[in-house]
Amino acid sequence: MSQLGTLEDLPIDYRQGLTDHNLVPLWPSLRAALPHGRASRRTQPVLWRYADIRPRLMEAGRLTPIERAERRVLVLANPGLGLANMQATPSIYIGMQLILPQETAPNHKHSPSAVRFVVEGHGGYTAVQGEKLPMERGDLILTPAGLWHEHGHEGSEPVVWMDALDLPTILFLEASYCIEGQPQSVRNQGDASQTAYRRAGLAPYASLDRAPDKYPLKRFPWKDTRAALTDLAAATDPGERVQLAYVNPQTGQECMPVLGFSALMLRPGETARPHRRSSSAVLHVVEGETQALVDGVEIDAGVNDTFAVPTHAAVTIANRSTSRPAFLFQVDDAPMQRRLGFFEEFEAAA
Ligand SMILES: [Fe+2]
Repeated sequence: MSQLGTLEDLPIDYRQGLTDHNLVPLWPSLRAALPHGRASRRTQPVLWRYADIRPRLMEAGRLTPIERAERRVLVLANPGLGLANMQATPSIYIGMQLILPQETAPNHKHSPSAVRFVVEGHGGYTAVQGEKLPMERGDLILTPAGLWHEHGHEGSEPVVWMDALDLPTILFLEASYCIEGQPQSVRNQGDASQTAYRRAGLAPYASLDRAPDKYPLKRFPWKDTRAALTDLAAATDPGERVQLAYVNPQTGQECMPVLGFSALMLRPGETARPHRRSSSAVLHVVEGETQALVDGVEIDAGVNDTFAVPTHAAVTIANRSTSRPAFLFQVDDAPMQRRLGFFEEFEAAA
């Protein structure tokens, strides 16, 4: 590898002339932009324990009325990327949001896409384009870019959900904005997961004669996801990965364009050794006790804990229980990387 010239090699008046004309020489920065062999990462394999988040979230509920917060969220920020930048990984925003009984979030829509994954509490709901989506623990709720949505809470105890957004990318593109609107007229009927798309493999007949909906299914109940994982585990060989992707039931493609969502199960005592991937990820433990090794950093994550996996990271995830399964929810940016044409899987972890 040849030694590239530095900025200091250049005469000062030449450098000044470049600056005066908004020009930059590439060669001093070439290796930083295109490192040889492996991408350079600032993202750290960091763990956010729910035991550290929950009391602070509840305290925020006492300190800041919802009118003064609009969204009462503690953002899981990766220290490697600068806390103020509010990135769990370069492309993934994760926040833990508290909704107290009777609180609402007014109807709005925005250019970033969001999902909610319910962590605790009953009685919360999100309405998307007039479709009321109940929110029970582990349910995945989609609020895609440009669709009207509002939140409410009809229960009697705090509800906490995890927000996952593609916000860092939309912000980077200087394309992030929000519009507030009139309250929706909410249809009083089951959401699509209970009606039109009740079962995988069955779709409304009329959907065959029209272009696929972008977001036909906006709620994925955990009850169904967990049952599907359990049945899949029973039907696959030990060691074979038990992971299901949340997809658009009309196209079979990822359910959102930038971020991907999946759920995985680790059998009792099992250790998963996924291939290294060019994508980054955030993993959230729904059930069980896990021990992960991410680029050599040991992460003990239990129920409701969340951790970041940098791009290109070597990962193993073990279920620490030898008697009970563990379930995790995964957010990654593989869909965007696939669409941009550079998604890769590398060799398996040792
Ligand atoms: Fe929103």
